[in-house]
Amino acid sequence: MKNLPQKADGTLGILIPGLGAVATTFIAGVEAVKKGLAQPFGSLTQMSNIRLGKRTENRFPKIKEFVPLAELDQIKFGGWDLYSDNVYEAASKARVLEPALLQAVKPELEAIKPMKAVFDKSFVANLDGTNVKQATTKYDLAEAVMNDIENFKDANDCDRIVMVWCGSTEKYIEAGDVHSSLEKFEKGLHSNDPEISPSMIYAYAALKLGIPFANGAPNLTCDIDALLELAKETETPIGGKDFKTGQTLMKTILAPGLAARALGIRGWFSSNILGNRDGLVLDHPDNFKTKEVSKLSVLEDILQPDINPELYGDLYHKVRINYYPPHGDNKESWDNIDIFGWLGYQMQIKINFLCRDSILAAPIVLDLALFIDLAKRSGMYGIQEWLSFYFKSPQTAPGLRPEHDIFKQLIKLQNTLRHLMGEDLITHLGLDYYQELIEAL
Ligand SMILES: NC(=O)c1ccc[n+]([C@@H]2O[C@H](COP(=O)([O-])OP(=O)(O)OC[C@H]3O[C@@H](n4cnc5c(N)ncnc54)[C@H](O)[C@@H]3O)[C@@H](O)[C@H]2O)c1
Repeated sequence: MKNLPQKADGTLGILIPGLGAVATTFIAGVEAVKKGLAQPFGSLTQMSNIRLGKRTENRFPKIKEFVPLAELDQIKFGGWDLYSDNVYEAASKARVLEPALLQAVKPELEAIKPMKAVFDKSFVANLDGTNVKQATTKYDLAEAVMNDIENFKDANDCDRIVMVWCGSTEKYIEAGDVHSSLEKFEKGLHSNDPEISPSMIYAYAALKLGIPFANGAPNLTCDIDALLELAKETETPIGGKDFKTGQTLMKTILAPGLAARALGIRGWFSSNILGNRDGLVLDHPDNFKTKEVSKLSVLEDILQPDINPELYGDLYHKVRINYYPPHGDNKESWDNIDIFGWLGYQMQIKINFLCRDSILAAPIVLDLALFIDLAKRSGMYGIQEWLSFYFKSPQTAPGLRPEHDIFKQLIKLQNTLRHLMGEDLITHLGLDYYQELIEAL
C-alpha cells in the first residue's frame, strides 16, 4: 500500500520574488476570498472536482477535499521587489483590481513589505529600483536570500515554505557551461559569473533549503542541470516555466482540437498589445526573445510537423508583443489561423481575446503553490511534470518532448492526484462497466 501524502498541518509560507501585477492580484484575491468577498474562479484546487472510480460510481469530490492541501487561512505571504511599495501600494499601481476591493483588504496588504531584491539591470534593462541587495559576490546574495527565508519563517511561524517566481522576464540566455553542474554553478556564484541570473540565485537559495520552487516566467531559472542536481540532492520539487495564460492558453485548447480532427494548419499569426510593467520589460528585444521562444515552442510540440508533414510541415508561426500603455493589464490578442481541410480547401479562424492577464495568472500561482507543497509532502522531487498544465513551456527531463496539449496535461495532473491518494487511474476506456450496463438491459 502506497504511503499517503502527509497532512497539510500548520502554516504554509508562500514567498514570491516579484511583487508586481500578478503577485499582488494573487495575494489580494486570496485575502478577498478569505473574507467571503469574492470567489476563486480559475483555480482547480479551490473550484474543481475530480472523478474517482468508474463513471457509474458517481464520485466527484472537490480536489481540495480529495487531497490534503493547505487551506487559504493557513497561508502567509512574503516576497522581494526592487521597488519598495508594499503590496497595497503595488496592487493600486498595477490597476488590475478595483480600489473598493483593495480597500477591503488594505490592512492585510499593507503589512506585506518587499524584502530587498537580488537584481541585476543587465538582465532587465527597462527597470530601475533601489530596494536592492548589495553584496560582493553572487554567492553572498544567495546567502542573503537564505537568511531572508529563515527570518520570514521564524517571524511568521511557518511550518513549510514554497517559492513562486513572479518577477519580470529576464533577458534571453541559453544554458552554458556554468549551468551544467552544481559544482560549476557554485564556483560561478563565487566568481560572479555573468551567466548566472538573479532568478537563478533565488532558485538556488530555495533549493538549498529544500524549498519547492516554481517559475512563472520564461527565464531558464531552475531549468538547468545544476539546479536539477541540487533539487535531487535536497529532494525538492521544481516546476516551470512561464504561466500559461491568455493567448497561449487559447492555443493549447484549440490546436489539439484541430490536430485531433486531422485538419491542416498553414499559418498562425499571433499578435498582442499590453500596457503593464510586464509589457514595458518585454519591450526590450533581449527580454522579448525569452518570451518569444517560450510562446513559439507550443505549436510545434502539439502538432509534431516531423511526424505529420502533410498537415503541419509548412506551418508559418509568428508571435508579436507590443507595449501599448493605454491598455494597462488588459491585454488584447489577435490570432489569425489559416487552416485547411478535405482536399486541401482553405478556411480561416480569427480570435480576438480581450483578456486580463493577471486575473488569469493569479489562480495559477495559488494552485502551483498548493500543489508543489503537496508534492513535497508526498516525497516527490525534481521536475514535477504533472504541473505542466500551468506552464507555457513545461520543464521536462532532458531529451523528452514537453506535453503542451492542455487536455493531456489535465489527465496527467488528475491521475497524479489519484495515484498519490491510492485511487485507480482513469484511462477513459470504460469497456468493463459499459458492457455490464448493456448486459443489464
Ligand atoms: N500575467 C500573465 O498572464 C503572465 C503570464 C505568464 C508569465 N507571466 C510572467 O510573470 C511575471 C510577472 O508578471 P507581472 O505582470 O506581474 O509583471 P510586473 O512587471 O507587474 O511584476 C514583476 C515584478 O517583478 C519585479 N522584479 C523584477 N526583477 C526582480 C528581481 N530580480 N527580484 C525581485 N523582484 C523583481 C519588478 O519590479 C516587478 O514589480 C513576468 O515575468 C511575466 O512575464 C505573466
